[in-house]
Amino acid sequence: MLEHFGKKHYIANLGHGILPDIPVEHAQAFVYTVKIIHGITKNSEICIYRKEAGILRKNAAIRSLVSETSLTLSDFMVPLFIDEGENQTFPIPSMPDYNRYTLDLTVKKVKELWSMGIKAVLLFVKAMDEVKDNTGQEAWNPDGLMQRSIRAIKDAVPEIVVMTDVALDPYSIYGHDGIVKDGEIINDETVEALVKMSLSHAEAGVDFVAPSDMMDGRIYAIRKAFEESGFTRTGILSYSAKYASCFYGPFRDALDSAPGFGDKKTYQMDYANWKEAVKEALQDIEEGADIVMVKPAMAYLDIIREVKNEVNVPVSAYHVSSEYAMIKAAAERGWIDEDKAILESLTSIKRAGTDLIATYFAERAVELLG
Ligand code: PBG
Repeated sequence: MLEHFGKKHYIANLGHGILPDIPVEHAQAFVYTVKIIHGITKNSEICIYRKEAGILRKNAAIRSLVSETSLTLSDFMVPLFIDEGENQTFPIPSMPDYNRYTLDLTVKKVKELWSMGIKAVLLFVKAMDEVKDNTGQEAWNPDGLMQRSIRAIKDAVPEIVVMTDVALDPYSIYGHDGIVKDGEIINDETVEALVKMSLSHAEAGVDFVAPSDMMDGRIYAIRKAFEESGFTRTGILSYSAKYASCFYGPFRDALDSAPGFGDKKTYQMDYANWKEAVKEALQDIEEGADIVMVKPAMAYLDIIREVKNEVNVPVSAYHVSSEYAMIKAAAERGWIDEDKAILESLTSIKRAGTDLIATYFAERAVELLG
């Protein structure tokens, strides 16, 4: 019995933590007691020999053999911020080393990303102040910056998966994701606007629209419009569990899209909740989402896991702008090793259950993965 290494109920560190080096008869007595308590009858269910977990950590080769999670190039979606104009790069102060580019330079960037092995980009545009209003109508202008960007990128790198943010905030004078009436964001009129926006992206050739607005019923409405208009192969990546989070600040700097009044708590989720995230994801799938997303990522790894356990579509997460900024800022001060922090963060997000990750660190991660 003592020589039998069981499969089911290992008392793993028997020789170490629980029982230090003691005579085997004592260990045996302990195991009998444990077995009685747990009603275990088969000898093979327990190993009483000292069992070092360290055996599997002894060197890099062993660790890589038994590693449960590996990052790969095809895990990443790269968010890109696009601006009007030509041949210009705009640094984003709260996102060191991350820039907003004019479309020509964005296309160049996308070619580089594709040649590095990156498979997807997630587009955001910075709308000019003159086109902002409370209807969001610039969002479905067939010659708007987003629509031109989709066409230009698909022309230049047809195989790269192009995804677009769908929400009214860059186009809203209030910086809100929907239409405002009497100080409130009104759901149903906003959904109609989001449908027009999504259709205009589909017409421009987008692969996936990514509604990030959190209005109710928008996935159903978009899917229905796609079906009726013949866009049966255009996907929907739904930001299903998007929390009202303080971690979006640098993003709003990048697009000049911070809410002008109030906050987004009436449509984005309360960060105290997790069941609601599962409910939102299941509902979006029923309405027609192909991929669901949890956002932000690192403070929400439990949510990613809960959603992953419940759904049968791919799960994504957005490693958001403040998560980027925090690592950059600490690294600048020498308080953290940036490259190690990138790999550990992204691996933890993948381990939690994501199939794809939107991250501003994608390029660096790909370089590090070699
Ligand atoms: C717009 C949108 C936001 C982000 C993605 N899409 C901002 C917000 O909801 O206020 C945040 C991304 C980031 O912080 O990196 N609806």
